[in-house]
Amino acid sequence: MPKFYQRKIRGWRWGLVALALIAVAYAATHPAQIFAKDKEAGGLAGINVGQIIDQSGPVVSILYPTTENDAVNAQIKEFTDSLLDGFMKAYGGEGEAAFYVTFDKFCFNGDIVSFRFNTLAATDALAHPAASQYAKIFDLKTGEETPPLSLLNDPDDLEGFSKMVYEHLKGQEPFKDNPNEMEMLFEGTAPVPKNFRNMVIDHENLIVLFDAYQVSSGAARVTEAKIPLENAEPFLAPRFHKANASAAEEPTGNAIAKEEERQQPAKGGYKATDKLVALTFDDGPSPLTTPKLLDYLRDAQVRATFYVIGKNAEHNEGLIKRAYFEGHQIGNHTLDHINLRRLGSDGMAQQVSGADNILKGMLRQEPSTFRPPEGAYSDEALAYLNGRPLVLWDVDPVDWMPINRDPQIVYHNVVDAVQDGDIILLHDIRETTVEAVPLIIEKLKGEGYVFVTVDELIKLRGNPDDLIIRGYPNPGLTP
Ligand code: NI
Repeated sequence: MPKFYQRKIRGWRWGLVALALIAVAYAATHPAQIFAKDKEAGGLAGINVGQIIDQSGPVVSILYPTTENDAVNAQIKEFTDSLLDGFMKAYGGEGEAAFYVTFDKFCFNGDIVSFRFNTLAATDALAHPAASQYAKIFDLKTGEETPPLSLLNDPDDLEGFSKMVYEHLKGQEPFKDNPNEMEMLFEGTAPVPKNFRNMVIDHENLIVLFDAYQVSSGAARVTEAKIPLENAEPFLAPRFHKANASAAEEPTGNAIAKEEERQQPAKGGYKATDKLVALTFDDGPSPLTTPKLLDYLRDAQVRATFYVIGKNAEHNEGLIKRAYFEGHQIGNHTLDHINLRRLGSDGMAQQVSGADNILKGMLRQEPSTFRPPEGAYSDEALAYLNGRPLVLWDVDPVDWMPINRDPQIVYHNVVDAVQDGDIILLHDIRETTVEAVPLIIEKLKGEGYVFVTVDELIKLRGNPDDLIIRGYPNPGLTP
């Protein structure tokens, strides 16, 4: 190992050791202060701080909570012992090493208290100190531990809960507009128990704790999702509903924070009074043409809606996920692209649900809208959409017709017809259409248009009971 590298490692290591010694010395001489601060912060009497300090081998400092319930104390002791055992087995024998444990306390009410244990292991064997966090939840009255998943109404059904956690984080930094981070978040919040094994609860929030690299890259370091109890409540066991929470101290600044949250602009920050237009791309995805289109949309920071054919999606999962993670909306355009009016009821149901199932398998949710092939539908077909809107269009450049397969023609057919609130029908399986897209975007941006997905357009201009949507022209706003 080159000398300078060795020095660098020694540098951080001794820095940590020094820090640890300061922390240990502080804890040893100031237990009363830590206790007093603790009491103020949580308002829960009877939680004290214990410590284990050992410098005979590796430097070890463990701060842990002690309570008035002996059964709880025994379980905490068993847990911190297991943390130390784990560290010693992994790193105790090699060179110089240090292990630190601290904790934070979260009070749901006078009985239910959660602890987050933060561990830091630093050794010669690790390029960086390794940090981890663990959750323990106890009932101070009964002495019983509540495994974090038991906070949930149905620990065996994580579908809805995991989706809520994902939705909560995805609009925030660093996930927003960052497909790589978004994909990590998507995988790290998949509905499996290991992703939610560490959660704590206080009287305002459910806090999901994540491992390093679980939901974000090392640079982004997202380690928790703090979800207001109101949002988490549909998934929580009744005894963890907000009605049973109690704060021993005055809430600080929450009313202000909530009001600010409400005033956040919708995704994209657009308003109903903006000049809105929705690009829609049908019949893909195609490995020949869709990647180029996604590049153009990404470079222009424009989001669109893809009405995909189930069978095409099935063979191009990577493209579906890429489009989704880059912020585009994915819609259902049937399983095989068959005109629904030529089908009986079984066939209609199969065409709609077949594509739903393929997309749900990839994105964990059904498409929110449907577009029928050739725009053909019947009242019976609507019944198979379960209340979801059937989305048509009001600008059609007829880009599939051989005579129109030229980027300039597609471009003119679109920009000469477009009005505020329009939905534009295009086909991403046509190379000439894909090449027209940057021209269309540049022109319409120049005219002050903003590009929204179909869901956003409906949200901004529509009504909840609109079942057939052709766009929402707003002539009053268009010169
Ligand atoms: Ni089509």
